[in-house]
Amino acid sequence: MQIWAVGGGKGGTGKSFVTSGLGVCLAERGLKVILVDADFGGANLHTYCAVLKPGHSYGEFVRGSAQLSELILETPVPGLSIIAGDLNSSGTNPMTYALKVKFFRQLKKLQADVVLLDLGAGSHHKTLDVFLEADRMIVVTVPERMAIENLYVFIKSAFFRKLSPLFTKAGIRNEAREIWARRSDFNLSSMEEFTDYLSGHYPEFGQLYGEAMRDFRVHIVLNKVRDYRQTETGFAVKSMTEKYLGIPASFAGHVRYDRDFWDRLLQDQVCLSRVSAARIMVDMCRVTDRLSEGASLRPGVSGETG
Ligand SMILES: Nc1ncnc2c1ncn2[C@@H]1O[C@H](COP(=O)(O)OP(=O)(O)OP(=O)(O)O)[C@@H](O)[C@H]1O
Ligand SMILES: [Mg+2]
Repeated sequence: MQIWAVGGGKGGTGKSFVTSGLGVCLAERGLKVILVDADFGGANLHTYCAVLKPGHSYGEFVRGSAQLSELILETPVPGLSIIAGDLNSSGTNPMTYALKVKFFRQLKKLQADVVLLDLGAGSHHKTLDVFLEADRMIVVTVPERMAIENLYVFIKSAFFRKLSPLFTKAGIRNEAREIWARRSDFNLSSMEEFTDYLSGHYPEFGQLYGEAMRDFRVHIVLNKVRDYRQTETGFAVKSMTEKYLGIPASFAGHVRYDRDFWDRLLQDQVCLSRVSAARIMVDMCRVTDRLSEGASLRPGVSGETG
């Protein structure tokens, strides 16, 4: 079983849409998929799946009254189910360390081929911690300057969050902080040069860093594209991530802007799959194929019984 997380800095870029679109496309390929609404400020993932009044929600897990496996709701799409977000949430992310451990322990036991996590907006460390635990780290942006800046902050913050325990383990927390603060004195102009410098001077850190980063890759989805030329933005974000942060990144493709799509979804109260003739879903399924490449997804490779 694999866990895929969908995040990205800015609100409203289409994280929830992309999460549910991926779910529909993977389920249509015969995989058993569970969507999890992990947005504590604005749970709405269920709406994309025509589950309009969820009978259970993630809030029950947070309050300790149910296991994740007891919260799974069917959707109209065969093979696709959902754990809905907490509609009564105060908007505060409740993901303490202890809850995160319990959350992932139970997630890994769910009977599914892929579990998709829809994260909330922003770069709060609690959101980043969930993002960093996933097998596939997917970020969504739109081709607008503000969104790209926020995405860059999100990726950079996730990277720092990943590095931080390595500094502690290697016993160089203070040295790393000092070198980063005076990076221009050290002629370090990017994160990559910073980590290269540390790896060269502190072999223990170098080894830990190599191990931690072996599978670290960010997959970029560019949503709400109105003009084909805007797809360049996806490649630009990829280059920026690789050049300045030294993080391997892939551009998984773009999804066109569809002005009528949300109206159609709400008016007809259909699941995303019913608008699958729409070009938006054609794009979504192409993105799904790219994200699945190399992921060794096979139907029936599920977790243990929950
Ligand atoms: N490709 C698209 N074309 C047209 N509308 C879209 C597209 N993708 C998303 N939308 C619309 O944009 C709005 C925001 O989408 P969505 O809720 O998925 O974003 P989000 O990133 O999850 O937001 P939040 O940060 O608030 O959780 C919704 O009204 C959605 O229907
Ligand atoms: Mg959302």
